[in-house]
Amino acid sequence: MPARATGSGSEIARTPPQLRAPRRVLSAAWRSLGLRFAAAGFQGTSAFEITSGHASLRRSPSTRTSGLAAKEALPQPEQGASFAGASAPGGLQIAGALAAAAVVGATARRARKPVVGGNWKCNPESMSKLDGLIANINACDTSKCDVYVCPSPLHVAYCADKFSNGADVTPQNCNFKGCGAFTGEMAVEQMKDMGITQVLIGHSERRGEFGIFPMDDNNTLATKLKYILDAGMSCVFCIGEPKEIREKGLDAVLAEMDVQMTQIYSLLDPAKVVIAYEPVWAIGTGLTATPEDAQATHAGIRKLIAEKASPAVAEAIRIQYGGSANAANAPELSAQPDVDGFLVGGASLKPEFAEIVAAISKAKA
Ligand code: PGA
Repeated sequence: MPARATGSGSEIARTPPQLRAPRRVLSAAWRSLGLRFAAAGFQGTSAFEITSGHASLRRSPSTRTSGLAAKEALPQPEQGASFAGASAPGGLQIAGALAAAAVVGATARRARKPVVGGNWKCNPESMSKLDGLIANINACDTSKCDVYVCPSPLHVAYCADKFSNGADVTPQNCNFKGCGAFTGEMAVEQMKDMGITQVLIGHSERRGEFGIFPMDDNNTLATKLKYILDAGMSCVFCIGEPKEIREKGLDAVLAEMDVQMTQIYSLLDPAKVVIAYEPVWAIGTGLTATPEDAQATHAGIRKLIAEKASPAVAEAIRIQYGGSANAANAPELSAQPDVDGFLVGGASLKPEFAEIVAAISKAKA
C-alpha cells in the first residue's frame, strides 16, 4: 500500500515590460534551461518535466494573465532547439543570445505559481464560526501563492467579500444550465453577479465516493467544465482514484486518471483550469500519499496531459495534491517538482492552513 499515516530579439521588443524578466531572473532561468536541455540529451526529451530552477521565475501576483494572454504565452516545444548552438561566433552569437533570451522570457511566463485551496465541505454548522475560519484564511501570506476557499453553498454569499488577501471564493459545485427551474442548483451566472470568478467541480464526494450518492460523472463534469469556461470563469477540476485502483499500482491509477480526463483534455487552459488530484483513499482518512507516490502520480498526470492535450499545456497547468494534507506533511510534498499546491479539507478549518500556504510558498521560491 503506497501510503503512510501522517498527521528572436524582436520577440523581446514586443514583450510588454511587465512580462520581461529581470537580469537576475534571466540568468537563473538560463542556468535552469541549461540543466533541462542537458537532461533531455541524456534521457530523451520529456517536455513536461519541470526543473526546480523554474521556481524563482513565478509570475508576481500582479501579472496574472487572462486565458488568452496565457495561451499566447505558452511555450512552443521547438523553441528549445533554436539555441542549441551556443558556440556560434559574432552576430550569430548575438542572435543566438537574443533568441535564448526570448525562450527565457517564455519560460518566465509559463512558470507555475503555487495554489492552495481550502475545502470547507459542509462546514461549519453555525454561521457564528465563519468569521474565525475567514480569519484563518486572511492570515495566509498570498504574495507567492494563490489561495482559494470553498465555503458550503449556504455560506458563499456571506464569505464572498470577506477576504482581504485576494483569496478566491470558489463554490463547490455548479450546474450546466444557468438560472431557471433547477431546484437546489447553483448557477455560474449567480456566482459572477457576486464577483465570484472560480468554481470547483468533480470532488470525489460528489462523484459518489465516500459521499451521499453520485451527483456527477465524467460526462456531466465535462459538460460543466465547458459551461464554466464559456461563461468566462475559472475552474478547479478534481480527479482521483479509489483504493481498489491504487492497490493495482501506478499504471492502473494513471489509466483511471486518463478516463477521468479524456473528455476535458481539449478544455485544459492552464490559466483557467487547475487540476486537483485527490486519491479517494487519502481524503479525510489521515492517510497521505508518500511524497514519492504523489510525485510519480502527478508526473504521470502531466505526461498524460502532454500527450493528449499538448506539452505546453502540461508544463503550464497546475496540479494540486489533496488528501489529508496538513502543516506536517506539506513541506515534503511541496518539495516534489510536479506538486503545485494542495486542496485541503480538514486542515482548512484550522489555523494551520496558513502554514500549508507558507510551506509551498517557501518550497517553490
Ligand atoms: P482532507 O480533504 O484534507 O480532509 O483529506 C481533502 C478534500 O476532500 O478536498
